Parts: sequence; C-alpha cells; structure tokens
Amino acid sequence: MPGTAGHRDAGTDVTPADLPGGPTLRTERLILRPWRAEDREPFAALNADDRVTRTLAGSINRAASDAMAARFSESFTQHGFGYWAVELPGVAPFIGALGLSVPGFDAPFMPAVEIGWRLAFDHWGKGYATEGARAALDYGFDAAGLEEIVSFTAAGNTRSRAVMERLGMRSDPKDDFGHVRLGPDHPLYHHVLYRLRREDWRGR
Ligand SMILES: CC(C)(COP(=O)(O)OP(=O)(O)OC[C@H]1O[C@@H](n2cnc3c(N)ncnc32)[C@H](O)[C@@H]1OP(=O)(O)O)[C@@H](O)C(=O)NCCC(=O)NCCS
Repeated sequence: MPGTAGHRDAGTDVTPADLPGGPTLRTERLILRPWRAEDREPFAALNADDRVTRTLAGSINRAASDAMAARFSESFTQHGFGYWAVELPGVAPFIGALGLSVPGFDAPFMPAVEIGWRLAFDHWGKGYATEGARAALDYGFDAAGLEEIVSFTAAGNTRSRAVMERLGMRSDPKDDFGHVRLGPDHPLYHHVLYRLRREDWRGR
C-alpha cells in the first residue's frame, strides 16, 4: 500500500504532506472534506447515539470520539488516505464520516485497506453512504493506487452489507471471521468480509 500516494484536488497534483487533512472530494450531493474542530461535537453526538452504534460494539464518549476524529484526519498524512468528514452542502455541515483506513487488529485478510462509513441517523435512507463511498473508491483506486479495497461488518448489519453490495463488493463465506477485539461471546463477533479489486471497479 503506498504511503505517499499523489492526490488530485482542484486540478493540482499534490502530496499528503501538502494536504495534511486530505483532499476535498465532491459528489452530486455531498462534500467529503478535511476535518474541522466544529465537526467534533456532531461526531460525538453520532457516536453516542445507540441507533448508530448498536452495530459498532456500542457508543463511545466524547474523548474517544475526538481521538477517533483525530486518527481519521492524521491517516491522510500517514497513508495517503483516510476517513473524510461528510458535508451536505446547504443542509448540514457535518452528517458523518466515511473513507479508507488500515484496520488496527489482526485478521486473516490482513494486510488490507478497508472502506467504511457511519452517518447520523437522520441522514440514513437517502443514498448518501453509497454515493460518498463511490467517490472514496475512485480515490482509493486512482489517487492512492490501491489494488484491492475490503469492507467488513457484523454479519447482521444488513444496512452496511447493502451498501457493500450496491458498490459491487462481493463476500465469500470462506472469508468470514471472528472479530478478535470482541471475543466469541459478543453478539457482534461474527463478521463478514467483502472485497473489491481495482479492475472490477473500473470495469463495472
Ligand atoms: C451503514 C449506514 C451508513 C448505511 O446507511 P443507509 O442509509 O442504509 O445507506 P445509504 O446512505 O446508501 O442509503 C441507501 C438507502 O437510501 C435510499 N435512497 C433514498 N433516496 C436515494 C437516492 N436519491 N439515491 C440512492 N438511494 C436513495 C435507498 O433506496 C436505500 O434505501 P433502503 O435502505 O430502504 O434500501 C448507516 O446505517 C449507519 O451509519 N449505520 C451505523 C454505522 C455502521 O454500522 N457502519 C458500518 C460499520 S461496518
């Protein structure tokens, strides 16, 4: 995985060192942009909302949420990709987080780059996760030069699995795994893995 992937923003070739919080991506309805201090409060609210976090092993407090936002932002410098803050222009300056990361735990499919998403509950059911993820996949395969991007979730997380399937990602039961951070007695222990290769994304 490249640590110095070139970025393209506003028509200029730049590197992660030039854009420490990452580039800005625009889709039809969304802006995926670098994190701002004022995102931390709505991000903490989302991370404290049980409707959002019940598929994510529970809610987290403000300090843990702020630390997660900082890690997402710093990832762009470290890896050349990360999770963006998602803005709905003219409607809401922050509706959630979405992007690419290097999972920080042992699993049979590692090393890998993952795509993931978490949106505030009021913004579900509008296609925003899928729309933002398409831009993040374009970025991952083109600007960051990745060969494969994976995604994983608890087996019962039907909404997240539906996003993966709409993106053309495919699962194989032989890739199913137990999440080492949760342990076999946890209700979210059983996870499914979806994969997408660059040639399949480009040839879709
Ligand atoms: C996972 C998550 C981001 C998915 O959100 P979502 O709203 O289901 O997914 P999308 O944003 O892609 O929206 C798809 C829905 O919008 C609908 N939709 C409405 N208007 C649309 C439009 N203009 N374009 C596309 N879809 C539209 C689709 O029909 C679909 O509806 P359905 O779910 O009834 O089939 C959200 O449930 C979440 O944040 N969950 C908690 C965090 C989590 O579990 N993250 C994943 C961890 S691996």
